[in-house]
Amino acid sequence: MKPTEKLYTDPTVPLDIRVEDLLSRMTVEEKVIQLNQYTLGTNDIENNKGVEVKNIPAEIGSLIYFGTEPELRNRMQRHAMENSRLGIPILFGYDAIHGFRTIFPIPLAQACSWNPALVEQGCSITAQETKQSGIDWTFSPMIDVSRDPRWGRVAEGYGEDPYANAIFGQAAVRGYQGKKLDDSISIAACLKHYVGYGASEAGRDYVYTEISRQTLWDTYLPPYEISLRSGAASLMSSFNNISGIPGSANHYTLTEILRNKWGFRGLVVSDWGAVLQLINQGVAKDLKEAGKLALNAGVDIDMMSHSYDKYLKELVAEKEVEPTVLDESVRRLLRLKFQLGLFENPYTPKTEASARFRRTASLQVAEELSAQSMVLLKNDGTLPLHAVKRLAVIGPMANNDHDMLGCWWGHGEDKDIHKLLDGITDELKKTEIRYAKGCDFLGEDESGFKEALQAAKWADVVVMCMGEKGNWSGENNSHADITLPQIQQRLMQKIHAIGKKVILVLANGRPLVLGSAVDMSNAILEMWQPGTDGASAVAGILSGRINPSGKLAMTFPYSQGQIPIYYNRRSSARSNQGFYKDMTSEPLYSFAHGLSYTHYSYGELSASKTTLSKGEKVKVSVSVTNDGEHDGMETVFLYVSDPYSRISRPVKELKRFDKRMIRKGETENFEFILDVNRDLGFVDDQGNLFVEAGEVKICIGDKKLSLEIK
Ligand code: GLC
Repeated sequence: MKPTEKLYTDPTVPLDIRVEDLLSRMTVEEKVIQLNQYTLGTNDIENNKGVEVKNIPAEIGSLIYFGTEPELRNRMQRHAMENSRLGIPILFGYDAIHGFRTIFPIPLAQACSWNPALVEQGCSITAQETKQSGIDWTFSPMIDVSRDPRWGRVAEGYGEDPYANAIFGQAAVRGYQGKKLDDSISIAACLKHYVGYGASEAGRDYVYTEISRQTLWDTYLPPYEISLRSGAASLMSSFNNISGIPGSANHYTLTEILRNKWGFRGLVVSDWGAVLQLINQGVAKDLKEAGKLALNAGVDIDMMSHSYDKYLKELVAEKEVEPTVLDESVRRLLRLKFQLGLFENPYTPKTEASARFRRTASLQVAEELSAQSMVLLKNDGTLPLHAVKRLAVIGPMANNDHDMLGCWWGHGEDKDIHKLLDGITDELKKTEIRYAKGCDFLGEDESGFKEALQAAKWADVVVMCMGEKGNWSGENNSHADITLPQIQQRLMQKIHAIGKKVILVLANGRPLVLGSAVDMSNAILEMWQPGTDGASAVAGILSGRINPSGKLAMTFPYSQGQIPIYYNRRSSARSNQGFYKDMTSEPLYSFAHGLSYTHYSYGELSASKTTLSKGEKVKVSVSVTNDGEHDGMETVFLYVSDPYSRISRPVKELKRFDKRMIRKGETENFEFILDVNRDLGFVDDQGNLFVEAGEVKICIGDKKLSLEIK
């Protein structure tokens, strides 16, 4: 083999040999510039207005791409391939969080579907639209366990439970990455924000997170450890300060755990400006020291802090960063570029937008995922609507488009959005419908009340479409007050006083405190923010064409004074004392709450064996009968409850779930295989899994089964 032969350009050469060959040819300057990510154009998200780099070097490692057509990307890529010494392709990334042009429900809503296969399909469609538009890498999924609805970013994750975030994180990775990363419709996933960002103090964004080592291991790390098993290509290091050491300078999480304990060989990119922000967080005196801390901790790519491009070469020369550390970060980036096939296929083929976006099959998945993510919170029998002659559709969400998309709406276009009023009108063809906006989301203007009240007086039933604007949740959207806005409550009070049946349809990116709206509503449908194609699902649920099947992935507090409030809490020292004196200590709606138009009866639990040894597996079975009047999809949740352990455990922990269609009158048998060590054991503050002899309860519905571990 001639030494000058460029092994790295030969696709028949094993990947790791190509990486080492290319790495061996790179200068320090070339290595340093690879570890930077700039934007190509200006950022389209108001939170991160970076200074655009005008003359992007051909050797740049990665760019955030805001286009929907590949031409600009291909021009930039040709610059890299032809004007750089080694012709290393650029890695293009973007926040395709819950869709690219076809916009799916926000991830918190998707979790309420309890249908990982459907979530995977949605992510696969997102990957196809994203890849064919010129982007190789999405900064998704977010798998931050979050229990504080004041934090706007609860909208972007999969709720309060570690296992739920793990399973949906895996599903998203499978959807995005497909069978092989170099497939023409696969993109690299990015698990974020590593780690513990969801514990943001008092729901404020970018702040301190008090996370004990025990909680780090038993709550915030499991979604990452499990999602990595699906082969996630990358992670994003977080903004938050993890009990004194920020996520983007935390050697313990980024290297000791991620690399040394879990053996992850993929890429870590910082969050936007997270390296620079180490100065604000008080651990770096300047941008140079911030870069040193981040790289040495394990952050491979500097997203828009301009620390690495300015100081890494100097830091290596001064031995503040070992050349081996620099090489390892470059190695991880090159591996991903080879895995994505960028050396062989650096350019995105041209496709017609009409063939790429919003394909018929994609819209069907979007509608189905919207339908399955919606949660019927309350119903006194008013729903489904039966032969209603006159229906009033009222509220700021009724004839709204953009706010249906929620946060991180990608390239979703308002013209694509199916509005609630249209969906309901299309569905209820025999019903006369009157619309009145009534009020805006906020403010004091009651001038629209009169028209709304007239419509309500005219109608037999009133549908009130209320809640949050799409940009009230998501990044940098912490709300200290999460009650339904006063103007909306006042409108509800006036309409309630008329005495007609009221159905409340909620659009929101976080659990809300609903207050008097609950008693003023005969039924409450949590629509969340369903994306471009959710209106038909709402209409179908109202008409009874669709039997609602969503269940909450995050608790609704009765009052914001209760926050944090979540299901898998530890038990109190006093079971009958310590409660609030001024109100209930119970949530408004619990985790996994969700009503159906039918009824399910659960049989007794059974187990393949009830006395178990460590390392064994056990099969737990339960039969569920649909003894109601409608076909329906039921999600069976299996929890483990260990009342006595050397480290106290949550009162119950979700360990399995399964959602199935059960036709009316029929019975389905659900079987779950549990691994004694993994599923019945617990973890200590070093991440060591331990299994103790003694009783462990399996809980499904209101049924319990005791297992004995010897
Ligand atoms: C933002 C977000 C992160 C996103 C990144 C790139 O600040 O924290 O979730 O992926 O920057 O836009």
